[in-house]
Amino acid sequence: MDRTISNARQFCGTVSVPGDKSLSHRGLLFGAISQGKTRLTGLSQGEDVQTTARCLEAMGVRIERRTSEVIIDGVGLKGLRVAKAALDCGNSGSTMRMLMGLLAGQDFVSTLTGDASLSRRPMDRVANPLREMGAQIDLTETRFSPLRITGKKLKGIPYSLPVASAQVKSALLIAGLLAEGETRLTGKIQSRDHTERLLPYFGASLREDASSITIAGNQKLQGVSFDIPGDPSSAAFWLAGACVVGKGSVSLDRLLLNPTRTGFQRTLTRMGAQLIENVVVKAPELAGNVEVKGSMLRGISVAPHEVSSLIDEVPMLAVLATYADGITEVRGAEELRVKESDRIESVAINLRRMGVVIETFPDGFRIKGPQKLTGATVDSFGDHRIAMAFAIGALGASGDTRILNCESVNISYPEFFETLERLTLG
Ligand code: S3P
Repeated sequence: MDRTISNARQFCGTVSVPGDKSLSHRGLLFGAISQGKTRLTGLSQGEDVQTTARCLEAMGVRIERRTSEVIIDGVGLKGLRVAKAALDCGNSGSTMRMLMGLLAGQDFVSTLTGDASLSRRPMDRVANPLREMGAQIDLTETRFSPLRITGKKLKGIPYSLPVASAQVKSALLIAGLLAEGETRLTGKIQSRDHTERLLPYFGASLREDASSITIAGNQKLQGVSFDIPGDPSSAAFWLAGACVVGKGSVSLDRLLLNPTRTGFQRTLTRMGAQLIENVVVKAPELAGNVEVKGSMLRGISVAPHEVSSLIDEVPMLAVLATYADGITEVRGAEELRVKESDRIESVAINLRRMGVVIETFPDGFRIKGPQKLTGATVDSFGDHRIAMAFAIGALGASGDTRILNCESVNISYPEFFETLERLTLG
């Protein structure tokens, strides 16, 4: 599915973005291994989250989808059954990596596969520590999926995370729940902290300080009710749109405001946009309303330590940088090269097609703005966030922009283009 996006004269309205993808995966997974029922409202309807649900169902978990809620019948930590076929994780790195942690401690063998993009993403970062915990994991070409996990009795380990990845951290905390003794994570633990917040909500205890997270094994989880707030990574497109289209204004309600996820909002404020935030819910996750009024933006530098709090929003930031006055530079973002596409490369190819000069580095990019975007044909590279970032960029470009392969938006935001149309009509 290709889309043609034209220059927009206005951009305003109210949006309830879909439930957060990271929380949706975790709600399903933790609900599945709890005792009793878990009731989730606001679950993301994107393909990635449906993939997690289908994998759990393939292992015998009952998931009832009602109009406004999803009920998961927990089977307990060790109640999963071996799936009849390989578990297809589709495009979802979160599904594959967190399932690896869970399956490492089961007493059966599982095979995990994914689509072409997922099959190029590194899985050794999860497999290596899980092997130290005792699991047997066979990867393709020592790094990739398809992969096979022979579950074992795990033992807790101390482990220093070499990459700031919440997926790896979460996989190890889940495996830690199934292990004998304690698992203590140090190193690059500063990434989104939903697993650390939600596991205690489901009744498990964790110990955290500034440099470590420790979880003891053999703890039971108890089913909960949880209203999943809106996804800040989806909201980022509307916040950016209000700035791209002159004096746009957008209100977002029930948005997740966890500080490990709101780096894009902080960056946008530093660039000169006016954001007002109103906290409504405090636990287990901060959530509330956000209003943005677009204004002239200035370029900024994003430091390596800030990157993880806006990692999925960097493609949008790169496009936005062409509208800002001065230099925008992002460094320390080498993880972008191993996402659904190589996002530094995808962004650079598309921006150049639209006439923009961008300098890239192994770990980021530099753009001197403002530069006028010229409508052109660009590609999503099968990556949902690239498709959406360029759809927003196109709103301020001269002439029409054709975006190829836009079906990728279904991964996280199936109603993205409908909402875009509504906001540009004003
Ligand atoms: C996610 C963590 C991030 C992020 C991804 C979702 C999660 O990936 O990019 O979209 O839910 O834990 P990494 O853990 O690989 O950094």
